[in-house]
Amino acid sequence: MTGIHHMLVHFPVGFWALAVLLVLVGALGRGRPAEIAQAALLPLLILSLLGALAAIVTGFLVWPWQANLYSPLARNHILMSLWSLGVWAMVAVLVWHAGTAAFTGARRWALVFLALLGGGLFAITGTLGGHLAGAPTAFSKILGALGWNVYTTFYVPGWVLLVLVLIGLGCAVLGVRIGRKAA
Ligand code: HEM
Repeated sequence: MTGIHHMLVHFPVGFWALAVLLVLVGALGRGRPAEIAQAALLPLLILSLLGALAAIVTGFLVWPWQANLYSPLARNHILMSLWSLGVWAMVAVLVWHAGTAAFTGARRWALVFLALLGGGLFAITGTLGGHLAGAPTAFSKILGALGWNVYTTFYVPGWVLLVLVLIGLGCAVLGVRIGRKAA
């Protein structure tokens, strides 16, 4: 399954890299290029999510569970791949729900923020995969400079998780209120 995983990961990685570009052109560009980027984004995101699911399923078949859970690198790789999937699924829902309105007004900045976040997360996922496959890159040195040694399990303190949940709930309440006002 190793070869299949190595082959399939190119789909989410390639599609997500292109999706970052399309979000930037669609949200910040003008004219025909922006229109094309906006129209192409949703189909691309759907393909990327299918590719990511295939990569994740085959990823779990490469090594036995015990090996995955024992290795901090593998644990980090799994965590980042699931976060990437989550963020890009959010972008897909946003674009699906809002259509071209997702690229205008304040929404455009949420889209750009999520795309850059998703871009960073998939880059880390791929970098960690490279480490697992014996092909490390200099990108992990940047992560090291930011305070995370990728050979140790990524750790978020409990209070940070609590703050994140509160921010999420706050955004949901704000969204419902704005939606009611607009209706
Ligand atoms: C979005 C999902 C994922 C992406 C984009 C991704 C990406 C990658 C990449 C780029 C590599 C290096 C391949 C190479 O150098 O040719 C890799 C290797 C690896 N990935 Fe993933 N991966 C994903 C999900 C997973 C998951 C969920 C697991 C579960 C444990 C996993 C396990 C592995 C393992 C064990 C290797 C090393 C294989 C070896 O021994 O050569 N991956 N991955």
